[in-house]
Amino acid sequence: MNLHELKANFNRVFPDSGEPRFFYAPGRVNLIGEHIDYNGGYVFPCALSMGTYAAIARRDDNQIRLVSGNIEPPVALSLDDLSYNPAHSWANNPKGVAKLLTDMGHKLGGFDMYMWGNLPNSAGLSSSASVAVLTALSLDSVFGLDICPIQRALLCQRVENEYIGVNCGIMDQFASAMGRKDHAILLNCGTLEYEYVPLQLGDYVLVIANTNAKRALADSKYNERRAECDQALAMLRKVADIQNLCDINMDKFMEYAKTAFGQEVIDQGMRMVTDTPVPAKVKDTTPLTAETIAFVRAYHAVSENERVKDAVKVLNSGDLTAFGEAMTASHMSLRDLYEVTGNELDSLALAAWEYGSIIPTSGSAPQPKTKVLGSRMTGAGFGGCTVSVVHKNSVEGFIRDVGKRYTALTGLIADFYVAEIDDGAREV
Ligand code: GLA
Repeated sequence: MNLHELKANFNRVFPDSGEPRFFYAPGRVNLIGEHIDYNGGYVFPCALSMGTYAAIARRDDNQIRLVSGNIEPPVALSLDDLSYNPAHSWANNPKGVAKLLTDMGHKLGGFDMYMWGNLPNSAGLSSSASVAVLTALSLDSVFGLDICPIQRALLCQRVENEYIGVNCGIMDQFASAMGRKDHAILLNCGTLEYEYVPLQLGDYVLVIANTNAKRALADSKYNERRAECDQALAMLRKVADIQNLCDINMDKFMEYAKTAFGQEVIDQGMRMVTDTPVPAKVKDTTPLTAETIAFVRAYHAVSENERVKDAVKVLNSGDLTAFGEAMTASHMSLRDLYEVTGNELDSLALAAWEYGSIIPTSGSAPQPKTKVLGSRMTGAGFGGCTVSVVHKNSVEGFIRDVGKRYTALTGLIADFYVAEIDDGAREV
């Protein structure tokens, strides 16, 4: 949809409204550093050229009208009642932004807002962060609130945490608000210090593949993982002076874990650690205790944080092969230790690894590993997307063969997008 069409749609749904202004906020893809933003770790996301657009005009009363070109229902409400309402479905997200802004003492008036987006829904590319960041930017601009982009991102995270009830970290909102064209953001989620890193991929491109799997219970599983990390942190804090799991490196973690968890827990947990692309067929079948689960979740967080730092170093030195290997290792840890992948994401990653000869397919002679350098799930998991580093001459073959293999493994059809890395939220 171009701006002309956006304006035509705004005028069609709000024929009595004023002249609108136009805004855009992107979705994101995270290259590495998964499930550690809420553990004070480093993440490495980039803003996409797909996102959500808004046309918005102020009104001179207290009414708010919200209409989406993608999803029902249209919603009309008053600024005087911004409480969460299940019947308002998607519109609770922009409502939550208005609610927190007014709670902070910002003076809003009524407004008409039409939104439309081109991000696949529930695909782990942060469509919901893009809607929130878009709303925050739009309201900030039309009501002259003068809030900086990082504060807007933090506000949108609070909307998810306090209003919607998902205990997410800051990564998605930060990436959507602060993205930069052709750069990834190395963000320290403990301090919010960040650095733009040029994405110099040479002959390679990023291909996003959508499992199109239904995401069941994703929010409750997400909150469960977060609670497991909190439990691990509480246990470690009995023996170590730390604020976040990612405050320590692997050596320190293992040292503290001995006292905090005990050797038996560590031994059981370490049996879950595999470093092979194909998971061990038969694992220890003894049910894991809550302590062992907390230990392996924390092991993922600490090791993933180290992987991000190493990955950015090798990327900066031009070693794309090592960068791809770190991505693949990240997926394995999310599969075996954090347990947020599931059959569809694992099948899609496996298909990419096979296509790139990262793992051999039965009977095939060894191939040079140049078509795909790495592949992993991105975002929260439980369905959603993978991101792969693919040679530009192999993109067509990748889409064809990985798509076929994924369908053979799952019966589902994947969608593929060559990612374009773009700027963050802005007026258009
Ligand atoms: C979701 C959350 C983020 C982050 C990722 C996992 O996208 O919104 O805060 O935790 O999952 O890395």
